[in-house]
Amino acid sequence: MTGAASGIGRATALRLHADGCTVVAADRDGEGLSLLPGDARLHPARVEVTDEAAVEALVERADRLGAGLDAVVTCAGTVRNAEVVSAEAADLRETFEVNVVGTFLACRAAARRMLTRGRGGSLVTVSSVSGLRGGQGRAAYAASKAAVVALTSVLAAELGPAGIRANCVAPGATDTPLVKAAQPPRVQRAVLGAIPLGRYAHPDETAAVIAFLAGPDASFVTGQTWVVDGGQTAGPGWRLPAGPEEQR
Ligand code: NAI
Repeated sequence: MTGAASGIGRATALRLHADGCTVVAADRDGEGLSLLPGDARLHPARVEVTDEAAVEALVERADRLGAGLDAVVTCAGTVRNAEVVSAEAADLRETFEVNVVGTFLACRAAARRMLTRGRGGSLVTVSSVSGLRGGQGRAAYAASKAAVVALTSVLAAELGPAGIRANCVAPGATDTPLVKAAQPPRVQRAVLGAIPLGRYAHPDETAAVIAFLAGPDASFVTGQTWVVDGGQTAGPGWRLPAGPEEQR
């Protein structure tokens, strides 16, 4: 899996490990990886997800462990916030390179190995509610995350006949370093107001859904986008004033 040094990816690596999986935990952040607990079933790997050869080697390494590769999770992601009128083309190129090309490279490498082994597998990509609904200031990010949803649908359609499932998780606001860096306090307040559950997700809550989709309990689920957003995309609904019903 990628993006394992921080946030949702770190939580997912620890969750899969706790569930008994052997996990190859990849990230470009070596320092973050070094904070993962040392264990024979947890293999840190310093990898840049846009480096085609490095990703091929990563997947090959994972496939050589135990009985071979069962699942790949692509959590590595980056965000750049700018409105369309001020965004640079370079913002889109760099965001797409990590979020889309990085996801594509890991899924392609995994799919090739799973096809060779011939016993199916599971791919879980990570999009965002921004990839479903857009959002102010999210030109590069939202477009890249919409591409991840579409790529996952293509993977499901092409690989389903070989028993390889592909699903996408679209988190809403989740309490991770990425969000803390990208959202100033006034944005965080606005986001909270749009979430019926009234809080950010803990990364473990998103990891639980990723682990479900990666594993055999989701054996008939493919081509889907699972939204983990505390109800954000459902909308906050009416907010009636507090007090006795007849006085509202
Ligand atoms: P994070 O910043 O805590 O973790 C992302 C990890 O990806 C970091 O460890 C980083 O080093 C790694 N990474 C980034 N670019 C990389 C590259 N080129 N090669 C290798 N590793 C790279 O972020 P967070 O919040 O855990 O995000 C994980 C995923 O969830 C991302 O794809 C993000 O877009 C998505 N997401 C997060 C949301 C949130 O509210 N935190 C909401 C919606 C989606």
